[in-house]
Amino acid sequence: MNLIERPRRLRSTEGVRNLVGETRLDLADLIQPYFISPRPVQNEPISGFSGVLRWGEDALVRKIEEDLERGLKNFLLFGAAHSKDALGSESYSEHSSIPRALRRLRSAFGSHAVLFTDVCLCPYTSHGHCGVWENGRVANDSSVALLVKSALAHAEAGADFVSPSDMMDGRVGAIRLGLDSQGHESVGILAYTAKFASQYYGPFREALGSSPESGSDRRGYQMDYRNQTDAMRELRLDIAEGADMVMVKPALAYLDIISEFKRRSDVPVIAYSVSGEYQMVKQMAEAGLVDERQLALENLFAIRRAGATGVISYFSSQIAKEGWLK
Ligand code: PBG
Ligand code: ZN
Repeated sequence: MNLIERPRRLRSTEGVRNLVGETRLDLADLIQPYFISPRPVQNEPISGFSGVLRWGEDALVRKIEEDLERGLKNFLLFGAAHSKDALGSESYSEHSSIPRALRRLRSAFGSHAVLFTDVCLCPYTSHGHCGVWENGRVANDSSVALLVKSALAHAEAGADFVSPSDMMDGRVGAIRLGLDSQGHESVGILAYTAKFASQYYGPFREALGSSPESGSDRRGYQMDYRNQTDAMRELRLDIAEGADMVMVKPALAYLDIISEFKRRSDVPVIAYSVSGEYQMVKQMAEAGLVDERQLALENLFAIRRAGATGVISYFSSQIAKEGWLK
């Protein structure tokens, strides 16, 4: 054939493919989530969440030490509750799992680890909602007041960035104001900006026992997957309220939102590849249908290609340990 263009020439050898490869992924781009047990005992496996544990404090410190040695520096901490109540009051106690772990990690690793904390009420409320339940709905403004207290408890204990995941209106601005008024102007906010009501959170809710009580769901505050416009409105608001970074969650089914955020904003866009996305890969690999490493990397590169600056992924520590990016 007499062809002027033969795209295959650029795919001919590993060297050529690497030279023309456009998208990069590095350990520095990854954030590993960890679940902290309220009991300082040993680690607990989570059913339906392959290889993911609720960590006891001592073991978590050792685990993060290994991650750091391997070059993984970014961590997002989730706390499991010791006891739950209607107001989720453990969420703002300095004795709850996140602040306790933060103090340990900060004194062990100083500024070598970048520590993000999830700020929400759902792990701590008896009804499992992300805010205060009043008259058959989640009340916005009284929930925000408690979220500010929780963010402050994390800042006091040494968080670099607090990450509100509740989707209440106005919480980014309120948290910013609260942090600044207590001298925490250098603590940043990674806002869960476009967080969709999603089935992909299944394994996570198992980890924290945070499913909303039966007969209710989170669609009164998390976003509707039919909408892109609402995400752009949230982006505008979170940036105006002082978010240092914005997040899209889940990632794979929302790549259009990631690329639109990248195009429209001048802050880093973080994508959260959530528990269900991880578990789909794990179960396909366990069934012998796919190569786990290849599929996990294909997904992560797709998220980066869409425009994510960083990715929160449950594979991060495994990637560091098994040297997948070397
Ligand atoms: C809680 C929260 C959720 C996730 C992060 N923070 C679950 C939810 O909204 O029910 C999901 C993370 C994951 O699935 O990996 N506000
Ligand atoms: Zn929540």
